[in-house]
Amino acid sequence: MSLIENLQWRHAVKAYDPSKKVTEENLNTILEAARLAPTSSGLQPFRIIVVENQELKEKMMAGALNPEVMRDSSHVLVFAAWDSYSNEKIDKVYDYHTDVRDLPRGRFNSYTDKLKEIYGAQTPEEHFAHTARQTYIALGLAMAQAAELKIDSTPAEGFSNEVVDEILGLKELGLKSVSLLYLGYRDEKNDWLSTMKKVRIPMEEFIIKK
Ligand SMILES: Cc1cc2nc3c(=O)[nH]c(=O)nc-3n(C[C@H](O)[C@H](O)[C@H](O)COP(=O)(O)O)c2cc1C
Repeated sequence: MSLIENLQWRHAVKAYDPSKKVTEENLNTILEAARLAPTSSGLQPFRIIVVENQELKEKMMAGALNPEVMRDSSHVLVFAAWDSYSNEKIDKVYDYHTDVRDLPRGRFNSYTDKLKEIYGAQTPEEHFAHTARQTYIALGLAMAQAAELKIDSTPAEGFSNEVVDEILGLKELGLKSVSLLYLGYRDEKNDWLSTMKKVRIPMEEFIIKK
């Protein structure tokens, strides 16, 4: 099946079959798609926390819009972005880049100096607004890869960031939750959305040609 057909197949599932689990191999493929997402300046300023533990999932349900969707999913991926940029974080990433590419450290100093100047003039709130945006490409790629594997998913912003950050100890890691991706297999009988047509505005309205 083509990517387009799989994207037509997928929908934001509203009920999961708790007895069906995503295999480790498939989970790793989905995570790899997210890891390969491009990010601004290649900084990858976010991490994905994989929650499979049922007790943890149930704790994270507090304040969620669709708590039972979280509970019955196979895995919850938590997309969590850096709470701020710093010179140290930028240097760490670029040292890694030069090491992987067998280049001398400092090879990209003129570029990283510019980044440090730009982010140095911004507040942590502005930093997080930027790092959080970076997560959405990875979220999209993870969802597309899941669909390619015929694994269901639900992207979710309807949850309590405070609860999730607290339970997962994200503050200590310099991270703040942005979105969740529930993974699993739809419960056909209870997933009210699974029989409905997919709705998107027509192409001629969506695309503006100049
Ligand atoms: C960033 C983002 C956040 C979302 N948050 C939620 C959510 O909290 N709960 C939910 O049931 N669906 C959520 N959705 C699903 C959307 O409602 C859904 O993707 C949209 O209506 C299109 O439908 P489809 O994905 O089934 O094609 C979210 C989607 C995105 C992209």
